[in-house]
This record gives sequence, C-alpha cells and structure tokens, in this order.
Amino acid sequence: MVTTMLWRIALFLLLLPGMAAAADLDRGRALAERWCGNCHLADRAASAGRADGLPTLPAIAARRETTAASLKGVLSAPHGRMPDLSLGARDQDDLIAYILSLRSN
Ligand code: HEC
Repeated sequence: MVTTMLWRIALFLLLLPGMAAAADLDRGRALAERWCGNCHLADRAASAGRADGLPTLPAIAARRETTAASLKGVLSAPHGRMPDLSLGARDQDDLIAYILSLRSN
C-alpha cells in the first residue's frame, strides 16, 4: 500500500518538469501553418493579408486586444469557417506562444 503510494509520488515528481515545460515555438509554428495558415497567413514575414481581407497571424498578434486569453477563446470555439480543432492544452499553449511571439514589440 505505502510502497505503491511512494511510487506514485516518485512518478509524479518525475513527470512534473515535463508538464511545466516552456511552450515550444517550433511546434506552435507547425500547428499554426497547419490549422490557421489556410485562412490567416501564418508566416512571421507575412505583411499583407489575403485578398479576401483575413488578417495574417502577425497582424492579429500586433493588435492590442490580442492576449493569450483572447486567443484561447478563439481556439476553443470555432469561428467563421474555421474547423473545430479540439486542440489539446499543450497544442493550444504552443500555438498561442507562437502567435504572441510574432509581436514585434
Ligand atoms: C477556414 C478558415 C479559417 C481558419 C482555418 C482559421 N480562421 Fe481565424 N478567422 C476566419 C475568418 C473568416 C475570420 C473573420 C471573423 C469571423 O468570421 O468570425 C477569422 C478571424 C480570426 C480572429 C479574429 C480576428 C478578427 O479579425 O477579429 C482570430 C484571432 C483568428 N481568426 C485566429 C485564428 C487562429 C489562431 C487559427 C488557427 C488555429 C484560425 N483563426 C484559423 C477564418 C479562419
């Protein structure tokens, strides 16, 4: 009984640093290209939006009202013709970190 519990605690402590790992910007970029890039240009260098007026991700990032929380809201409810992504928490965090990293200041 007690040993099982000790093993659980040891396992938990072992996994803890992994769970607290910093967001992975490369993963975030790949996710952005895959899930957002069809509609919002995801590249850091994308300055002009598409002809249909959809903002690029750098343009979205540059807005004052864009925050991690607002992006989380966008990701958890599909908008426009955006497919329902149901991204996991880690995917969301990486994606959000990538988008916010596009801010130039
Ligand atoms: C199928 C096309 C499509 C995809 C894919 C898509 N979006 Fe959008 N997005 C739109 C449209 C259309 C709008 C315009 C507002 C609306 O219709 O709600 C929009 C608006 C937004 C806005 C609000 C900006 C504004 O102008 O108000 C944000 C933020 C956003 N998208 C983020 C994302 C992110 C992040 C992804 C990737 C996870 C993504 N979108 C994927 C079509 C898409």
